[in-house]
Amino acid sequence: MPNEKPVFSAAGVSRVFGHGKKAVTALDNVSFHIADQEIVSLVGGSGCGKSVLAKIMLGLITPTAGQFLYRGNPIGDAREHWREVQPVFQDPFSCFNQFFSIRSQLKASFGILNTRPSRREMEERVDHALRAVNIEPPEIEGKYPFELSGGQMQRMLLARIFALRPRVLIADEPTSMVDACVRANILDYLMKLKEELGMTIVFITHDIGLAYYVSDRIFIMHHGRIVEHGPPDRVTMHPENEHTVKLLDDIPSIHKDWLSRTNVSRKPGAVH
Ligand SMILES: Nc1ncnc2c1ncn2[C@@H]1O[C@H](COP(=O)(O)OP(=O)(O)O)[C@@H](O)[C@H]1O
Ligand SMILES: [Mg+2]
Repeated sequence: MPNEKPVFSAAGVSRVFGHGKKAVTALDNVSFHIADQEIVSLVGGSGCGKSVLAKIMLGLITPTAGQFLYRGNPIGDAREHWREVQPVFQDPFSCFNQFFSIRSQLKASFGILNTRPSRREMEERVDHALRAVNIEPPEIEGKYPFELSGGQMQRMLLARIFALRPRVLIADEPTSMVDACVRANILDYLMKLKEELGMTIVFITHDIGLAYYVSDRIFIMHHGRIVEHGPPDRVTMHPENEHTVKLLDDIPSIHKDWLSRTNVSRKPGAVH
């Protein structure tokens, strides 16, 4: 049964770093709700506060003002929170230890769960997760992170999510270090995570074109504020804020032309 309470709710949330003249306001009075099973994209230029908001969602940092709730409650113990809310970051190599095999690290990640699955179930879940990102388990058997490409490692991060099945995924620019082909795959995997596991996903990107494909709603951020939000069709076809218009200007023209003409479903097709 879907949970009635919003997954995340922010009321007047601000986050300031430092004091006095050197104070930096990374988030400035943001308020929103994110519903169960929604895919919301946070879109904005570098330094607008996307990662700071992601870290608040992950319980890694706390707001300096306002109220931030996860399913109606303040985030208490971070380890407890991470059983349900998991990240995928930009740099997959920083998330894996170079000295342990990939497979052993995928299995070790079950340690975060309350009840660790049996050894056999762990092996099965890892195999299933690898296949979910189009990798046959023997391909990575006995392999270490340095033996894989950036794109393969990014898929390992997503495999970890398929294996752990968190209720909420925070994906902070997971496609910014990979080429266009891998990028399209990652978007498909995000859709698959939502379809198959009913996950709630916060997808962070500076590319409003990518956000258009995957999101139920887009939040446009600028200087620590959410300056516009709404469904992707409305936000991209009828932007109301100058910063949204600027972000639209930044996407490649061929893509923009397609966006303005198409009425077809924006969701990518089924993935294998
Ligand atoms: N730990 C920190 N200490 C000081 N300033 C920070 C810290 N983390 C983020 N900031 C500042 O907050 C602003 C927003 O950063 P961030 O959320 O990382 O931007 P982005 O939208 O690129 O992810 C930036 O000005 C950044 O320099
Ligand atoms: Mg960032």
